[in-house]
Formats: sequence, C-alpha cells, structure tokens
Amino acid sequence: MSTSYLDIDPWKIIENTFDKNKIMSSESIFSIGNGYMGQRANFEEDYSGETFQGSYIGGIYYPDKTKVGWWKNGYPEYFAKVLNAPNWIGIHIQIDGEILDLNRGKVKRFQRELNMKNGIYTRKFQITLNNGIEISAEIIRFISLKENSLGAIQYKITALNRDCEILFEPYIDAGIVNQDSNWDDAFWKNKSLKNIDSFAAIISKTNKTKFEVCTYMSSKLIFQNNIINSPLSKNKFKNKLSQIFKINIHKGKTVKLIKLGGYINGKRNYKKNLFIEAEKLIEKFKHIDFNELLKVQTESWKRIWEMSDIKIKGDLKSQQAIRFNIFHLNQTYSGKDPELNIGPKGFTGEKYGGSTYWDTEAYCLPFYMFTKDQSIPKNLLKYRFLQLDKAIENAEKLGFGKGAALYPMVTMNGEECHNEWEITFEEIHRNGAIAYAIYNYERFTKDFTYVKEMGIEVLIAISRFWSQRFTFSNDKKKYVILGVTGPNEYENNVNNNWYTNYIARWCLVYTKNQIKKLEKLYPIDFLKISKKINWNKVELNLWEDIIQKTYLPYDDDKKIFLQQDGFLDKELIPAKRLDKSVRPINQNWSWDRILRSVYIKQADVLQGFYFFSDDFTLEELEKHYKYYEPFTVHESSLSPSVHSVLACRIGLIDDAYKFYLQTSRLDLDDYNLEVEEGLHITSMAGSWMSIVEGFGGMQIVNDKLSFENKLPIEWTSLSFKINFEGSILEVNVGKNKTNFIWKGKSKINIISNGKKISLP
Ligand code: BGC
Repeated sequence: MSTSYLDIDPWKIIENTFDKNKIMSSESIFSIGNGYMGQRANFEEDYSGETFQGSYIGGIYYPDKTKVGWWKNGYPEYFAKVLNAPNWIGIHIQIDGEILDLNRGKVKRFQRELNMKNGIYTRKFQITLNNGIEISAEIIRFISLKENSLGAIQYKITALNRDCEILFEPYIDAGIVNQDSNWDDAFWKNKSLKNIDSFAAIISKTNKTKFEVCTYMSSKLIFQNNIINSPLSKNKFKNKLSQIFKINIHKGKTVKLIKLGGYINGKRNYKKNLFIEAEKLIEKFKHIDFNELLKVQTESWKRIWEMSDIKIKGDLKSQQAIRFNIFHLNQTYSGKDPELNIGPKGFTGEKYGGSTYWDTEAYCLPFYMFTKDQSIPKNLLKYRFLQLDKAIENAEKLGFGKGAALYPMVTMNGEECHNEWEITFEEIHRNGAIAYAIYNYERFTKDFTYVKEMGIEVLIAISRFWSQRFTFSNDKKKYVILGVTGPNEYENNVNNNWYTNYIARWCLVYTKNQIKKLEKLYPIDFLKISKKINWNKVELNLWEDIIQKTYLPYDDDKKIFLQQDGFLDKELIPAKRLDKSVRPINQNWSWDRILRSVYIKQADVLQGFYFFSDDFTLEELEKHYKYYEPFTVHESSLSPSVHSVLACRIGLIDDAYKFYLQTSRLDLDDYNLEVEEGLHITSMAGSWMSIVEGFGGMQIVNDKLSFENKLPIEWTSLSFKINFEGSILEVNVGKNKTNFIWKGKSKINIISNGKKISLP
C-alpha cells in the first residue's frame, strides 16, 4: 500500500509533481527541526487549499481540561497538548496585485527536496497567475542546528514573461490555534508586539502554563547586489505583524527576500528581556550572507552524519529509508536539555498530544546511546529522575504509598495526562521499560554514575510500586498481577500479562542487585540516599518472596508462555485469514470485537523475548515467534521493528527484511494512510534497531559485545558506527564477512559470528 509519489534517492526526499491531495502528507514528510523547535513543511506564501499548519517548540504545552463522559477517580485533570506555536515563516506575496497562491494559479512545474545530508529544504515551482504573469520561484529554508532559536528562508522570484511589481509581505502570526482542542479555550495570549525598522517580534504567553515565547523575524530584499534593509511600510494587527517590501523588476530578472526568524523560548520566569534577546540574535546573523549560513548548517549536519550514518549498498530504498529515520530522530531530539524528550510525532503533528511515552526508553534510547556522546542518553534518563516526585504522587493518587512510583503513560512534565482508564491505570508495564533503559545504559556504557547519582532512587521507587501491585493468589500460591493492559493494547483488563509479570519481577531482581552494588562501592552515598527515601532493607524480604513466586502463565502442552491467563480461550485464527477490507482492524471493527479477538496490536510476549534474550534459548525464541507472529497485526508503528530483530535472530532474514521496510518506510510509503497527521518519530528508532541489532546482530553475550552477520539478500554491504564504552567501533558487514575498526585506546574483545576476536 505504497503512495510512492516520492523519488528514491540515497540522500534526498524528492517530490516532483504538484498534487493537492498530497500537500498534507508532504507537509509531514518534509518537516524540519533542530531539537528545540520544528515545523511542518507548510508553504511560506498563502495557500488557500487544504493544509495543516504546524510549528512547535520543545517543552511548550497546554493543559487542556480532560473531557470524559464518566469520571473515574485517579483520572488526570488535564491532557497536555503539544502547542501549535506562532507562525514565523509566513510571506504574503503579490505580483502586480495578484496573490501568489498555488491553489489558484496554474502550476507548471513543482519540485520539493529535503536534503538530509545538510538539513536544507528547497522548493521550486513555476506558475502562471490568474493575471497572466508567469514567474518561477525557488525557496530555501532551514532551522539551524547550531543556533537553537534561528531559522532562515531565502525566497527567490524570477519574472518570466513580463515586467512586474513584486510585493513581499513577510509576517509573524501569533493568532494560532491547535487542530485538536477539547474546549474553546485560547492556548496563547499575546503580551506585546514590536515592529521597528526591519525587526518585528511578538511575545506570547501560554495560558495556565505561563510559558513565554518571543516569535521574531527580520527581513531584507536583495536585488542585483542592492540590499534593501528597511521595509517600505509596516502593518500591525491584533495578533500579527508584517512588513512590506516592494520592487519592480524586468522580465527575466530575479529578486530575493531573506527572512530570519524563529522563537526565543523564555520557558517560565525568564530573567532577560525576550525582545532584546531576539534583537541580539538578529544583529548577530543579519549581515551574514545566506550562503554562509547554509555552509554552517551543512557543517553541523556533517558532524552528525559522521557518527550516525548507516550505509547500505545494493538497495536504495532501504538506504533512503534509514537515513530518513536517522535524520528525523536528530531533528527531534538533540539531547542537550534534560527537560526535553521525544514525542511520538516529534515536531511534525499534534496527535499524541503529550510528549513522552514508554517509546523513549523501550525504543529510542539505543539510537541516542550508540550514536551520541554519553551525556545525551544520560539526559534522557535524567528526564525521568527529574520527574520522580510526580511519579510518586501519581502512584499515591491510585492508592499506592511508601515511595512507590508509577510513571505516567503520557506526560509533558511528569504528571499523567492520558485519560483512558485501560491505559492510564492499566498499562503499567511502562515502569518496567524505564528500569530496563537504566540497565541498558549501564551495560553498554559501563557508566555507573547515573545509577549512583539518580537511578537508584528511580529503581527503588519503581520496585516499590511493583511489590505493592503484585497480589498473592492463594489459589495459585503465586504472586499475580491482575487487571492490566500489556503492550498489546487490543486486550484490556487482563490478568497476568506475561510481559508485565516478567518485567516486574526482573525490576525487583535488578534493583536488588544495584542496591548491593552501590552499598558495596559507595557506602556513604548509599547511606545518604537511604535516609532521603526512607529505605529499609526489610523491604527486600517481600521482594525476594515475589521473585521466588512470580506467576508466569505457561502452557505445558504447547510449551509457550501465554500472553495472559485467558489467551487460549480465544478463537485462534491467524491474521492472514482476515479479509483485507477489515484491515487495519482498529478502523474497521468495534472495540468490543477487537478486545475479544486474538489479534495482537504490537509485540507483547515477543517484546519480552527481545528485551531479555539472554534468558531464553534460540529454540524457545523461535517457538514463541512462530506462535505469536501469525496473530500480530502490527497496527502500532512500534511493532515491526522488534519482529524484524527477532526474525533475524532465528534466521528468517526475508521476514526480517519485510518488517524492516515496513518500519523504516512507514511514513515515506504511508503504510497506514495517516502520514498527513505527522510522522512516527519514536518508531524510527526501531528502524535503527532493526539494522544494528537485527542485520548487524549486535547484542551483549556473556558480557561481551557480539555481532552476527545477517545481511539480507538484497544488500551487498552494510556499515555503521557505534559508540561503545566511550569509543567508536565501526562495523562493516559484507556478504560473507564482517570487519571492524576500533578507535578505542585499549584493545577490546568482542564476538563476531560466534568467534571471539580481539580488536587492537
Ligand atoms: C502504542 C503504544 C505507544 C503509543 C505512542 C500506541 O499506538 O500502542 O505502545 O506508546 O502508540 O507511540
């Protein structure tokens, strides 16, 4: 089900035709950002056709009052919305009085291109306007990686068939609303507007959350080496400022407008004057040639690619896809600010209003951990530490106590902001992923500082939650977890979801071991923490009992772990027998029917086999994969990547390849026919996993880094780099051999295709 209107190219995303039905899809796909702000690829000039305007600033949200029919105790008061921010890119254009609007004139040529190598987005078109004037335009836009608050546009127009007057009216518009809002509340309030000389800015404040943002712009017109810095006139509306530049040009001549703009994010209680900060930024950049700015941007991206590029030979589709995924992951999260995180749609849409899901720990952490400096994954973990108090409050709201923490399923600031009981109250496995990420970080980086400084508190609070959430079944003489939703959201309120029980028990074991380690290595630090959180060793007694007696549903005949107690009561009909017309089932079946069906939305038992691969033999993995995969409908974007990695491990490389394409080209080929709502950013990290952990076979085996060559038949070679324990390891996987280049100072022993090797 591929839309495939985009060209296949190793470094670029290219659209060659002007199709009004694809505008919103392309707005998502060609999005740009820098981890602090980002935006959909909306046109700068007016567009009267269907479009989804979107520009977002990291960490800026609004608590939209929760709207539910029947209120349940424990529901969050609000649902945090990622806020659509003021528009800084707008340029209203008139040519001899006729508005430039691609929905109205006759578009002759149209091309847009996102160059992933340097983060530069270009659009070119030729149009005949209704007044008969024909022009061509070329627009270049980027959001600076180096300068968090800076974006830049160069808008070039050439008069093709006559002399004409061109009016450029660059503007900033703060009268912006979200597409999705529960009530008619305004999200932003504009505090002050300033429009002097070529500088214009609006300071807006979010209602309730009181975040302050200054949206600014500064423009200049360039014609035949003359630079016009001051606008002819200015306009001030209630929520909008604009500046007018006008010029008459002869047929064949080109004029360009350069516009700098963006946001100064004052967050809350910013001490400095936001207007002055914006002016300083403009002063710094306005005299720099646009091409110079492009060079800096190219340099910044070059540094990112040096470490994070994955090269695939023999298969352009796969190559383009992985770069697209890596590109967007880098645009979404830079890792410099521990208060920011990775939303499922990043800066490309509003859906999944809250920002942080378990996706971050379960899927995204490895990508940032292996392609960045250690401080970056550490910041991702720190994010949860900073929100620990709120997670404890959240657990208290649900009736837990004594320092137990339940992290939210969806959050912006640590408070739960999702309000479906089956997710808010029941999808508690998220706590496990957070602990697992700490373990993952520690085992690959060998950095114990996070656990020592922050992580131990997180782990103890999570384990306290689990020890209270298990109940003892007198019937089974085991500890059970009742009434949960596992990763498979197509089953709610089930008892003993195997994955949840397994990871809960694992958390208790891991926390217990980390406590021992800390006590031994840093007794004074541990004593301090113990006092702070009222830790008493006696708590371990219950933990130990649970560890010994955790109930894990298992079928002796089939020799498989059961997804939950009632799984075998279902009609066990494989998904391939479903008629195509009912897929995806979440758009075609009633919820009641879905809940009773056997169909699995996303890896569930298999998620456990992926995380805890050391605990199971390959035969067990194969058995479980072959049992559960046929029932899995992969209606979460997170699902195919885990199946891809596992299929590699058991040698089903063709299946793995199919799942890889499904995850990595999900948005480019619009598998789920929803790309116009935004991109699936968090699952993009899954694409990275499919390659490095799947086809490259990277794992820790017996405490050693290990690789298995699982190259798909379509590829002639694959190469990638990882940051391992602070040094770079380059891995080159060929048809029948794997080479390594180790840049570390001391030698390491690794395993390659089952054999121990030593890298100097
Ligand atoms: C998935 C969740 C995921 C969320 C955000 C849902 O469709 O089922 O596991 O956390 O999307 O990506």
